[in-house]
Amino acid sequence: MGTGRARIAASILDADLGNLAYAVGRAERNGADRIHLDVMDGHFVPNLTFGAKTIRALRPRTRIPFDAHLMISEPGRYVDEYIDAGCDSITFHVEIDEPIEPTLRRIRAARRAAGLSVRPGTPLSALEPYRELLDIVLVMTVEPGLGGQSFMKEIARDKLLPARDLLSHKAFGGEVHVDGGVNRETAEIVGGLGADVLVVGSALWIRGHDMAREIRLVRALADEGFQYGLNDGKPPIPRDRWSVFTSLPKHIARRAMAEIESGGIPVLMLRGDGQINPDGVRDYDLLVPMSVETLTVERHAGARETWLREAEAWRTAAADERRAAGERRAADQRRAAD
Ligand code: DX5
Ligand code: ZN
Repeated sequence: MGTGRARIAASILDADLGNLAYAVGRAERNGADRIHLDVMDGHFVPNLTFGAKTIRALRPRTRIPFDAHLMISEPGRYVDEYIDAGCDSITFHVEIDEPIEPTLRRIRAARRAAGLSVRPGTPLSALEPYRELLDIVLVMTVEPGLGGQSFMKEIARDKLLPARDLLSHKAFGGEVHVDGGVNRETAEIVGGLGADVLVVGSALWIRGHDMAREIRLVRALADEGFQYGLNDGKPPIPRDRWSVFTSLPKHIARRAMAEIESGGIPVLMLRGDGQINPDGVRDYDLLVPMSVETLTVERHAGARETWLREAEAWRTAAADERRAAGERRAADQRRAAD
């Protein structure tokens, strides 16, 4: 798995469809972060690809996550099949003629990431009514239906940054995906517009090309674009970088973790190497992803003071209690000896 900020989802649409099991394994070995699965029903788009049964059969062939991109007219009718097939995220199109909300809710109830996608001609405002239910916004930069088309730069410019705003309710983990014509020539632009997940199709399956190098290049160029386009020249934070927010005795750490996580920020609780408490157990470190460190401080700096004070009071009380118990024991022993 690569470091850096941008993630690469390999679309297998242009792989050898006669050997998809090999294709997903190959994408993983060559450094793809996800597999992007383009499902077409010959109705919403003129083409037909594969469905839930194929996805289910591919699931055991790789460990990386599956992102389903449903270009179908009736996702509500089939969504359970895609959940059962083991998709980690399911994204469908807002341009369908059936209710959208129930399907988004079903995906979320199954604890998978839920997404909506827009064709190039559909304004992002079409997603507004559903924003609270979205984990993913997928911006199409080609007309859905075919791999290998050329990238629509204006669409990317108009939609990618505003797509991020649609996910502002998510402190962590909301994703903007960009799909269509993404390759080494366009990666820097979409990275500079803040795309989190780059769907790369035909560029990965060119005969004689080194897929691993292609993936590394696209990811590096996207990060480069982000660094200079959006982050004032500061290199993007690798997504596996965590920082210690505070260290607390275990029972207080547990409570603090729950409180921080209730706001959508993931927390790792690890035994630290800091101070040893009167009960003989060391403080636990609470780590948060560096990308949300500032937000965590903004939200919880006050509470952190309180937790630390509580910890100190608990330590003093526990130490006093141990001392008193020790004295009682010594007195008992003296009495027994008399
Ligand atoms: C198009 C699909 C894309 C496609 C991208 O309808 O949604 O995922 O595979 O292929 P490229 O990267 O070739 O545009
Ligand atoms: Zn797609």
